[in-house]
Amino acid sequence: MEVPRPAELQLVADEAATCVRCRLAETRTQVVFGVGDPDADLLFVGEGPGAEEDRLGEPFVGRSGKLLDQLVLEEMGLTRDQFHIANVVKCRPPDNRDPQPDEIAACNPWLERQLELIQPKVVVTLGNFAMRTLLQTRDGITKVRGSTYPFRGGLLIPTFHPAAILRGGAQQLAQMRADLVRAKQAIAAATAAVDVEVPAEVAPAPTDATLFD
Ligand code: URA
Repeated sequence: MEVPRPAELQLVADEAATCVRCRLAETRTQVVFGVGDPDADLLFVGEGPGAEEDRLGEPFVGRSGKLLDQLVLEEMGLTRDQFHIANVVKCRPPDNRDPQPDEIAACNPWLERQLELIQPKVVVTLGNFAMRTLLQTRDGITKVRGSTYPFRGGLLIPTFHPAAILRGGAQQLAQMRADLVRAKQAIAAATAAVDVEVPAEVAPAPTDATLFD
């Protein structure tokens, strides 16, 4: 019998809880796999757990997470139970250092399983690490943000990491708010497209992601 996708996501999380695929396993308190609606239309992908996340086992529960929650509520009207959050690496890099390329590569199969099972309509990447990992680019967030990208049958919207907003100024905050509004519109458009039954012979051309810019 086929396992329902939400149950399978839990099985994958249980398997990940004992992961030793990279050196981060030696210093973590626990694996921080992800949180939220397993059927969500919206998936945020961050960088990796910090000290609070490592302690509590949930992504984005520190200062960055509080800001993320606030902005998502204000711009999208959504609370944590209505979307999903994951990270590029599931274990805390010691001393909050950047995740290393081999750690990101070792952890990637877990993120792939999350994408496969959640099947979000829209992925919002937070910061450079998530954006570079999923868009397979070396460009930086300042260059890449402001557009919407086709991604695995859905859309990807890159934005700043909330930690950068906490450090940065009003302009970045306004841009992140605009990115979240773009994500809300993209979800609404994707949902409307699914709700309208179109006979096969007049099926529309594939979505032009630039329409959402
Ligand atoms: N920063 C991240 O990128 N992820 C978290 O879960 C927390 C802070």
